[in-house]
Amino acid sequence: MARILVTGGTGYIGSHTVVELMQQGYDVLIVDNLSNSNIEVLDGIEQIVGKRPDFCRMDCLDYPGMDRLLSQYSDIRGVIHFAASKAVGESVEKPLLYYRNNIGSLVNLLELMRAHAINNIVFSSSCTVYGQPSAEHLPVDETAPIQKALSPYGNTKQINEEIIQDEAHADKSLHAIILRYFNPVGAHPSALIGELPNGVPNNLMPFVTQTAAGLRQKLRVFGDDYNTPDGSCIRDYIYVVDLAKAHVKAVERMLAETAEEQVEIFNLGTGRGLSVLEILRTFIRVTGVDIPYEIVGRREGDIEQVWAEPHKANTVLGWKADTPVEDVLRSAWNWEKHLRGIK
Ligand code: UFG
Repeated sequence: MARILVTGGTGYIGSHTVVELMQQGYDVLIVDNLSNSNIEVLDGIEQIVGKRPDFCRMDCLDYPGMDRLLSQYSDIRGVIHFAASKAVGESVEKPLLYYRNNIGSLVNLLELMRAHAINNIVFSSSCTVYGQPSAEHLPVDETAPIQKALSPYGNTKQINEEIIQDEAHADKSLHAIILRYFNPVGAHPSALIGELPNGVPNNLMPFVTQTAAGLRQKLRVFGDDYNTPDGSCIRDYIYVVDLAKAHVKAVERMLAETAEEQVEIFNLGTGRGLSVLEILRTFIRVTGVDIPYEIVGRREGDIEQVWAEPHKANTVLGWKADTPVEDVLRSAWNWEKHLRGIK
């Protein structure tokens, strides 16, 4: 079976994807600098799959190191590139760090792929490229206009998409699948891997589960005066295991060489928008754990509402996010309980 290089493979989405790839029989090589993940994730993967993935602690910015590694692993047929800095707020404080990490890594990888005759890349992008879609573009599909990024982080995703397009134009042997994620949540049903936020979580779901576990006093709901049915923001929350499976589909598609275009773009979402308050109420209902919360002012830079039109991924990729949100929220809570040793 083919080997896939997974950069950022010990991270949240990366680790779930490694599990799905290995369960489908792929050999995996993870490259991760562990800047925002933990080496013990490998134990979780091994427990789930029954086999340990090959791992190299390395930064994708280390060009000679990556070059040596790709020479050593001459069986790599494709790359899934997750490794990136991803905190929106931090990117505003440290834009150059984000440009260096997120742009430099991709440029290195594409150069090295060419040098080592690896022609397939799956790239982690984000629905952030759409900004706030206008009403006629909701749900948002892949043809909606790209809007000026609201943060350096978002800008790195847009620039990376352009870099891939330009390189594919120059190198006709390159095939790329760009996946635009909506809001990944939940954890593997085994509760052996999941999200490991650094410090105080910025994202909704880890904040909710940490509040449920008693680590945080209360959840702050950022705004209830938006132009939405209950006034809180709407997102498309997608189960991380469903998301991981989409990557396997993308890899299969590239290896089968059935892509119609050199660069294909897919939205990965459920097609359903849920508000912050709906998520909160559903979480309380399915777990039976109360979450103290207060409504506070809007968070700067938040998009009011966005959810996916996933038709293209459903039909072309043959993939659908179909895990019920109740199961997703339960999985997030089970993971938090596992982490904190809560029965
Ligand atoms: N929220 C709260 N309280 C919190 C945290 C979040 O009310 O403590 C709300 C936010 O205001 C937002 C929703 O929950 O309405 C979701 O917020 P997240 O931070 O979980 O997710 P975002 O949609 O803001 O951001 C995500 C990714 C980014 C990506 C962006 C693209 O985290 O990487 O989607 O839209 F850029």
